Amino acid sequence: MCGIFCLLSLSSAHFEWDKTVHEHLKRRGPNLSRDLTVRGTNPSCRCFFSAHVLHMRGILTPQPFQDNTGNVLVWNGEIFGGVPVMPEENDTAVLSQRLSSCDSPSEILSLLSAVRGPWAFVYYQKAGDYLWFGRDFLGRRSLLWKFDAAVNALTLTSVAAQSSGPDRSAWQEVPAAGVYRIDLKAVTEAGSVTFEFHPWAHGGNDLASSCSETILESVPSGCTAVTNPSGLVLTSPVCPLNTSIPKSLNEKESLSNSHPCVKDLEQMLASKEKNDEVNQLIDVLSEAVRRRVQSLPFRAQDGPPPPNDNASVAILFSGGIDSMVLAALADRHIPAHQPIDLLNVAFKLQVPKKQKEPAKKPGKHKNQPTGFKTDGADYQTSSPFDVPDRITGKAGLKELQDLNPERRWNFVEIDVTKEELQTVRQERICHLVHPLATVLDDSIGCAVWFAARGTGSTMQDGDQRAFTSSAMVILTGIGADEQLAGYSRHRVRFTMSGHEGLVQELAMELARIPSRNLGRDDRVIGDHGKEARFPYLDEDVVSYLNSLPVWEKADLSLPRGVGEKLLLRLAAKQLGLGQSAVLPKRAMQFGSRIAKMEDHREKASDKCTRLLAE
Ligand SMILES: *[C@@H]1O[C@H](CO)[C@@H](O)[C@H](O)[C@H]1NC(C)=O
Ligand SMILES: *[C@@H]1O[C@H](CO)[C@@H](O)[C@H](O)[C@H]1NC(C)=O
Ligand SMILES: *[C@@H]1O[C@H](CO)[C@@H](O)[C@H](O)[C@H]1NC(C)=O
Ligand SMILES: *[C@@H]1O[C@H](CO)[C@@H](O)[C@H](O)[C@H]1NC(C)=O
Repeated sequence: MCGIFCLLSLSSAHFEWDKTVHEHLKRRGPNLSRDLTVRGTNPSCRCFFSAHVLHMRGILTPQPFQDNTGNVLVWNGEIFGGVPVMPEENDTAVLSQRLSSCDSPSEILSLLSAVRGPWAFVYYQKAGDYLWFGRDFLGRRSLLWKFDAAVNALTLTSVAAQSSGPDRSAWQEVPAAGVYRIDLKAVTEAGSVTFEFHPWAHGGNDLASSCSETILESVPSGCTAVTNPSGLVLTSPVCPLNTSIPKSLNEKESLSNSHPCVKDLEQMLASKEKNDEVNQLIDVLSEAVRRRVQSLPFRAQDGPPPPNDNASVAILFSGGIDSMVLAALADRHIPAHQPIDLLNVAFKLQVPKKQKEPAKKPGKHKNQPTGFKTDGADYQTSSPFDVPDRITGKAGLKELQDLNPERRWNFVEIDVTKEELQTVRQERICHLVHPLATVLDDSIGCAVWFAARGTGSTMQDGDQRAFTSSAMVILTGIGADEQLAGYSRHRVRFTMSGHEGLVQELAMELARIPSRNLGRDDRVIGDHGKEARFPYLDEDVVSYLNSLPVWEKADLSLPRGVGEKLLLRLAAKQLGLGQSAVLPKRAMQFGSRIAKMEDHREKASDKCTRLLAE
C-alpha cells in the first residue's frame, strides 16, 4: 500500500504541506518518499506529485514514476491478474510502460479495465496535457479530493486530515464510479477545473447514468464534472447481479430446529443438491486467497533464505465464519513451516458499578468473592477482555489447530483500554476515518486500527507473552456479508418483501461498499505501513457470487446461524471446519465490545462527536 498525493495548482501560490497529511502519507509508505513537479504547456498550471512507497513486490520502485517521455504515474494498487506481472517485476513499472504505449483514451480505459486487483492512481499524460485519476470498480483503495478556491488548487490524496474552521468538511472520497480526466490546457484557459468522467459499465445497462448523478453530487465545490463527450466507458470486471427470484416456494421446508447445528449443514451437504456451487465457491475463493498470500516481496535468488519465524500474512480474526474460511484457505497456500498471525481485538469490559458496592445481603449470589463459581463461570480466571469475539476467536483457534496441527497459529490477543482508545483516536484515527464521520465509522475505524497494528500478546510455551505481528499483508473478511446476505437487515428485508426485496438490498449494498467501508478501511490499515487485502472482493469471487441466484447464496427461511451466508457455511463445513460454520453474525463493534465503551443511546448512523479533532 502506498500513499499518493497530487496537487494541481492553477496559480503561482506557494505550496505548503499540511504537516498531518504529510505524516499520514509517510506512514502508509515508509520505504521511500519522493516529490516531483511537472508543468503543463502553460507554465501557470503545475502538478506537484508526492509518493510514499510501501515495498511489496519486485524491486523497490521509486514513485512518482516518470517515464522517458515525461509521463508521471503515482500508483497505489496491486495487480493480481489481467495484466501480466512477473514475480521479479514491479507492477508500477509494468503499468507505466503499458500506459505510455496507449495512444488514445479508449486504450487507457481498456488497460485499466483489464487490471484485476485494487487500485487508486493519478497519471499525468504528457501528450495532450491530461491528468487522469480514479479508483477501481469496487473502491478497494482510498482516494480523496478537495478544491481550494483561495489558492485555486485541486488536491488528490490517499489520506487527509481534519482541519479546524470552515474548511472542516472540504474533503470527500472520490466516487469509485469510474475514471476522471482533466484537460490541463482547457483548465488554464477557463481558470477552473472540469472533470471528464468515464463510468464503469456492464454491457448495455444504465449503470452509467446513475453513476453520473453520484458524481455530480460529490464533485468538490469550484469544480464541474461532465460525462466524457465520446461516451467512452470502462468495462466492469464483474458480471451483473443475477436478479432471478424463485418461481415456487414449495420446497421451503424450514428446519424446525431453532438451534442451528453442524448436523444441519452436514445433512445438506450429504443431500448433494448444492455441492457444485459449494465446490465452485471454494475453488474461486481459494484462488483469490492464493493470489493474495503469494504476492509478497520478492526475495533475491542469491541471498540467504528468509527467516521463517515471523508470519508474512495476518488475518483480522474474530473466529466467525468469514475469517475462519480465510484462515483455512490461507493454510492451503502458505508453506506449513511459516506461522500465520490471527489478529483478535478486544476492548476492556467496563465493570458495572453495581458490583463494586459492598454486599448488603451476604450469601446472596450478587456479590460473591472472586473465584466463586456460579453458572459455570469462573470469575477468577475470566478477564475483562473476554469479549464475545475473544471467546469465539479462541474456539476458532482450536478448530484451526485441529485442521493443521503442524502450523504455528499465532493467536494475537490485542487488548485495548479506554484510555488508549481515547488518546489514539484523537491523535490519529479521527484523521484517518475522515471524511467519514458516523458512530459506526468510529467504532469500526478504531477496532480495525488496533487490530491491524497487531500489538498484543500470544501464548508461547505456556506463557502469555508480548507479541507484535510483523506481517505486512492483512486479509479481511469484508464483503462476505454484503454478498451472501449476512446482516440482520437482510432478514428484515426478506421477511417484509421476499426474495425481490432481498435482491434489491444486495444490489444496493455491493454498490455502496466503497463509500461505506473500503476507503476507510484502506486508510486505517495503511497507517501501519501494512496492506489490506480483501479475498471476498476478488473480481472472480464477486463475479461468481453475482452469477448465482439469491436462493443459492442464502436461505433466510432457515434459522440464524444457518440460513444467512448458507453457501459459505456449507463451504466451511466442506473445508473441515466445525462449530464456527454455524456461528450467527456478530458485528465487529459488538463482538469486540468497542460499542459498549461509549454512549449506549447513540445510533450507528449518528455523527460521532468523538471523531472531531480538538
Ligand atoms: C519497508 O519499511 C518497513 C517498515 O519500516 C521495513 O520493515 C521493511 O523492511 C522495509 N522494506 C524494505 C524492502 O526496505
Ligand atoms: C521495476 O521493474 C522493471 C521491470 O518491470 C525494471 O525494469 C525496473 O528497473 C524496476 N525498477 C526499479 C527501480 O528497479
Ligand atoms: C520478527 O519480529 C520481531 C518483532 O515482532 C522482530 O524483533 C524480529 O527481528 C523478527 N524476526 C525476523 C526473523 O524477521
Ligand atoms: C440466474 O440464475 C438462474 C437460476 O440458476 C439461471 O437460470 C440464470 O441463467 C441466471 N441468470 C444469469 C444472468 O446468470
